[in-house]
Amino acid sequence: MSKEKVRVGIIGTAFAGGFHLRAYKQLPHVEIVAAADMNAKRLNEFCSLNNIPNRHEDFRQLLKQKDIDMVSICVPNFLHAKAAIAAANAGKHIVCEKPLATNLKDAEKMLKSANDNKVKLMYAEDWAYAPASIRAREICNEGGIGDILYMHTIESHSGSHSMFAQKVSLCGGGALIHLGIHGIGCMRTFIDKKVQSVIGKTTGGLNKNLLHKKLEGEDWACAILTFVDGRVAIIEGNYVTFGGLNDCIEIYGNKGNIKVNLSRSSPLSVYSLEGYSYAVEKAETTKGWTFPAVEEEWQLGYWKEIAMFVDCVRFNQAPPRGLSGEDGFETLRIAMAIYESEKKGKEIKLK
Ligand SMILES: NC(=O)c1ccc[n+]([C@@H]2O[C@H](COP(=O)([O-])OP(=O)(O)OC[C@H]3O[C@@H](n4cnc5c(N)ncnc54)[C@H](O)[C@@H]3O)[C@@H](O)[C@H]2O)c1
Repeated sequence: MSKEKVRVGIIGTAFAGGFHLRAYKQLPHVEIVAAADMNAKRLNEFCSLNNIPNRHEDFRQLLKQKDIDMVSICVPNFLHAKAAIAAANAGKHIVCEKPLATNLKDAEKMLKSANDNKVKLMYAEDWAYAPASIRAREICNEGGIGDILYMHTIESHSGSHSMFAQKVSLCGGGALIHLGIHGIGCMRTFIDKKVQSVIGKTTGGLNKNLLHKKLEGEDWACAILTFVDGRVAIIEGNYVTFGGLNDCIEIYGNKGNIKVNLSRSSPLSVYSLEGYSYAVEKAETTKGWTFPAVEEEWQLGYWKEIAMFVDCVRFNQAPPRGLSGEDGFETLRIAMAIYESEKKGKEIKLK
């Protein structure tokens, strides 16, 4: 039997908390009953503007609320494990933002506690079910480009707005774990095979970086992944790209190819001498030629993934391919192997 209402708590009310909120608000079977954030001012604004009845500066108080079925974890990466394990112990289903954790030990503990407490741990990889990715996968599945031979993904922009992203201990790394990880998670929904080995290269952080000499993590990273059947993929993440968020997926088959542009495929072209309020995520300017996003959060996949997570809870279903805790773990395992490859200067085989 389906649940009539899924009652949600949002942990972290800044950037990601905002797009989770707006995605939940699209859904008739959802009631947002509480939010938590250690920043009282931000929390109060978030709750007051959106009529959220319960607010907590300590997320453990939110987890004590008996009327919550599932929580969205939208706090900095290093807190994902702590929040997810506490949520699992409180019997709540979990949507966790990317990356699943900042290290594999924490990620393993998250899987175990979700499993022990019989709650769903769902991994929020928005690229995987962005409307354009879904359409591209349909075309691949019906043989439109023949057999997939090779894939190439990139996420890049000119630098993260978040303080935690500046420190390796809080973020888990730099542009690879923060940006490149989308491509890793997404391509696993196109090529349903394990990654067997990786060769990684990164700028290494601080003064070795290309542009961001104060950033502890790397500001550029690239890797070649080899799947068990010999197919290869190239993934890249970088903070040296101006002009706004750049999210691209290229799929090459033996009978054609597909290019998906999640962030720069606006139907609008604007030339503005004055500039205006907002064009696209992370764009430095709105003057001159710009291509403003239309329904950006829908286009990037945030609304669709949240709708899928709510359905998993409503109808007691397993998360779709690419969105389970195990998928988050495997994606993180590949990212960590890329860092190891850079450190050791050699190809790393994944067990
Ligand atoms: N899928 C995507 O494309 C995407 C985009 C942006 C961010 N994210 C992910 O979402 C998460 C949050 O990112 P963000 O950009 O919103 O970060 P942010 O730094 O803008 O906001 C984090 C929020 O968490 C709050 N917080 C920090 N510690 C807390 C604690 N102990 N208890 C309660 N609240 C606490 C902060 O006060 C802040 O409001 C990260 O894991 C990030 O990787 C994903």
